[in-house]
Amino acid sequence: MRSHAIAAIPGDGIGIEVIDAGRAVLDVLAERDGGFRFEFETFDWGSARYRSAGALMPEDGLERIRDKDAIYFGSVGAPDVPDHVTLWGLRLAICQGFDQYANVRPTRILAGITSPLRDVGPDDLDWVIVRENSEGEYAGQGGRSHRGHPEEIATEVSIFTRSGVERIMRFAFGLARSRPRKHLTVVTKSNAQRHGMVMWDDIAREVAADFGDVTVDKMLVDAMTVRMTMQPQSLDTIVATNLHADILSDLAAALAGSIGIAPTANIDPERRFPSMFEPIHGSAFDITGKGIANPVGSFWSAVMMLDHLGEQPAAQRLMRAIERVTADPSLHTPDLGGKATTKDVTDAVIAAIRGDNL
Ligand code: IPM
Ligand code: MG
Repeated sequence: MRSHAIAAIPGDGIGIEVIDAGRAVLDVLAERDGGFRFEFETFDWGSARYRSAGALMPEDGLERIRDKDAIYFGSVGAPDVPDHVTLWGLRLAICQGFDQYANVRPTRILAGITSPLRDVGPDDLDWVIVRENSEGEYAGQGGRSHRGHPEEIATEVSIFTRSGVERIMRFAFGLARSRPRKHLTVVTKSNAQRHGMVMWDDIAREVAADFGDVTVDKMLVDAMTVRMTMQPQSLDTIVATNLHADILSDLAAALAGSIGIAPTANIDPERRFPSMFEPIHGSAFDITGKGIANPVGSFWSAVMMLDHLGEQPAAQRLMRAIERVTADPSLHTPDLGGKATTKDVTDAVIAAIRGDNL
């Protein structure tokens, strides 16, 4: 029997609730499949550990999870800890430490979910955003001097390397090629950012030459928000820098109905390190502990994890189960305008997985 070793890092807030739900669903899937099982190890890294031990994760944290097959992550962030501390102390430490340079964010309007866009249905919006996940605006370069003085200065330097841009372009073109429409939109801001972004465009053009069967177009990031809103049908695979894709993927999630649904994979395509799978939403302290968090983002992230682990039939079964459940409005959580609880949705997905007609 195939065995997959998973590091579960629920983190903070509703992360704990949705990872619990996801684990229950994954165990039932494995049972139903019969060909594989999961070995979960849970790590209590997050803001509570920061308060008690002074760090979100132990110093040898990466070593402890390096040999896992994947990481299943909830969310991190707390009202009393600065956001840049929680982000750099855990999530980015893992993404950058394991060189998970491709962040993949699929967006679709799932069965039963309504887009806020008028007359836009499931066939009109089916995108995958590829976010450069290792450098760019999140490179961590910069500093702050003369604190508190009138001459205080802060710099936040974006880093673009040829190798970093080329590898994300190759990944994005490859992904675009694997999808039926074989279409890639390269997002840029090379009118204003005349160094890094012009190199980004140059490399996109060079890589395109190796992918003659992929059609490609280029969009400035500001105009991209208009196109996503006004002509969602015209887009398929999208590649953008770390920050641009961060912003566009929130817009994408909202246009597809709810940020509670959207999944993410932080992938090391070379498989030197474990990849990490997480819902796109944050820790949502306003609803923590109420049992009403939408677990669909965590389930869809589990679909991506199963795919990465080579368990395609189980991945497809879970995706069908998710859509079976979202199709029923009585199983919508409050973020979708419904009254269902996390447990209602989880139980329904489990029942669908166990059912014969899926
Ligand atoms: C995301 C999130 C993070 C990011 C936050 C939590 C810092 O918004 O994954 O999109 O900006 O990378
Ligand atoms: Mg974001």
